[in-house]
Formats: sequence, C-alpha cells, structure tokens
Amino acid sequence: MSTLIEDLMPGPITGPAPKTGQRTRILAVANQKGGVGKTTTTVNLATAMAATNKKVLIIDLDPQGNASTGLGIERNARSITTYDLLLGNAQLGDAVRDTIVPGLSIIPSSVDLAGAELELISMPEREYRLVNAIRPACAGYDFVLIDCPPALGLLTLNALCLADAVLVPLQCEYYALEGLSHLVRTIERIKRAFNPALEIQGVVLTMYDRRNNLSDMVAANVREHFGDKVYRTVIPRNVRVSEAPSHGRPVLLYDWRCAGSQAYIHLAGEMLRRERKAAA
Ligand SMILES: Nc1ncnc2c1ncn2[C@@H]1O[C@H](COP(=O)(O)OP(=O)(O)OP(=O)(O)O)[C@@H](O)[C@H]1O
Ligand SMILES: [Mg+2]
Repeated sequence: MSTLIEDLMPGPITGPAPKTGQRTRILAVANQKGGVGKTTTTVNLATAMAATNKKVLIIDLDPQGNASTGLGIERNARSITTYDLLLGNAQLGDAVRDTIVPGLSIIPSSVDLAGAELELISMPEREYRLVNAIRPACAGYDFVLIDCPPALGLLTLNALCLADAVLVPLQCEYYALEGLSHLVRTIERIKRAFNPALEIQGVVLTMYDRRNNLSDMVAANVREHFGDKVYRTVIPRNVRVSEAPSHGRPVLLYDWRCAGSQAYIHLAGEMLRRERKAAA
C-alpha cells in the first residue's frame, strides 16, 4: 500500500523548495488514473520538442519504466536510475542517458522505485528529494518532463514539489472528469503546503475516437470546466501510437506521418507557443 498525498499533509517538514536553474521549465505529466496516456504523451511530446532544437530531459518516475522502454533504453543501461537520485546515492549527470532522439535524454527508472514510496517516508526532506537532486543540476535543459506513476503517493508528491506546472493527459472516457477534480484538489493542496508556484499548465485530451459520441461529450465537458487550459490539439486513438513502444521508439520515429505523430507535433507547437506567451 502506498501512502497517499492526503496522508502527508499538512505542511512541509522542511522549508520551501530551493529554486535554482529557473530558466528550465519543469513539467510533471500526471494523472492518478492508470493508462490515460501519461507516458505516451511524455515520450512523444518530448520528442517533438527536441525536434525543434529544445534540449529536453525526461525523468522516468514510474517503477513500470515504460518511458525508459519506449525510448529503447536497455535494462543493462539502467544501472543508475531515478531511485538512486531520490535516495541521494547519485548525481543527475551520472543517471542521465542519451536516447535515439537527438537532444532528448532520460533518467531511467527501475523496479526499485516501487519500494521507494515506503523508504522515503522516514527520510528527511522526503517531499523534496527530487527537488534537491534535479533543481541544482538541470540548467542545461530547456524542458524537463516527469513521467509520473498512476498514483497520488510520495513519488508523485516529489514530482509536484519539483515541477513548475502540471500537464494532465485525460482519456476521453466517462469517468475522466471525476478523477480530474480529485487531481485538481490535490494540486491546490500541494500548492498551499509545499510548492506555491505550482499551476496546471494544460490538459491534453488523449485517445480521442471521433466515431464515438462519448469522446465528444467528454471533450465538451472538460472544455466547459477548464476552458483555455485544455489544448486545442486532441490526440486521436491511433494504432501506430500503441505499436511504437514495442520497437523502443517514439511514434514520431516509428511512423512520423501517422495521425498520432502529427497530433503530437501540433501539441508541441501549441505548448511552445503557450510557454512563450506565459514567459513574455
Ligand atoms: N493515442 C493513442 N492511440 C492508441 N493507443 C494509445 C494512445 N495513447 C496511448 N495508447 C496506449 O494506451 C496504453 C496506455 O498508455 P500510456 O502507457 O501512455 O498511459 P499511462 O497513463 O502512462 O499508463 P500508466 O498509468 O500505467 O503509467 C498503452 O498501451 C499505449 O500504447
Ligand atoms: Mg505510464
């Protein structure tokens, strides 16, 4: 059983997170619901951003290690992982691996992370372990994307203490909004207790199926609640997107022409425009 973020409230154990490396934008890709497209969005958005000459780092914070696998990082190249950074056993530079995408690096995860939730509980600065490992050393990156696990536990709390903002992938299905309101409440609590600057960067609708009326209903509903936060670009359900990870490649390298790749290219463009506007 993992600890829920609620159990870890209220208030920081230590002072506020140190802020260095401010030029770098750090985004947590989070949704406690499983299988909604967090990893797919992290890997393919990062790839599309790297293609525009941004320097991008993915932090694989999920014990499942799907982002590491999806980027073709072999098991034997995962000797130093996010787990080691959380425990303070390694420096960022030791853990970073290049990927097949120029400009895109990753800190891989390992199954040890599954135990980290429990190990971290009794550690000092347990909410800021990732902040302490990443913030001072990430200035060389334009964007850091954190692929969160499908839970609101201590790992995700570490991601949300580190992040400037949260990108929420949302699958176009019936229960989507219910989970989203829980996530929004959690983000508000983390903002109050740990990371005052935290905000929702955006909501991305994933696995959209235009033949399905429900997809349209959910999309309309989410837009009604979240307005401009919801990206205009919608990621369609596309079989090429789901095939790509088994080849250890982002879909943009597997089949750049397919509808899924094109959607992620558009999403990256929309996101970079949004980011430029916010920074201006
Ligand atoms: N646009 C898409 N079209 C088709 N399949 C997709 C699409 N996006 C994601 N998938 C598939 O759906 C499944 C779940 O996606 P993904 O692993 O990205 O979700 P996740 O939120 O990271 O899951 P978890 O919560 O387990 O980490 C995967 O098999 C993935 O290949
Ligand atoms: Mg995932």
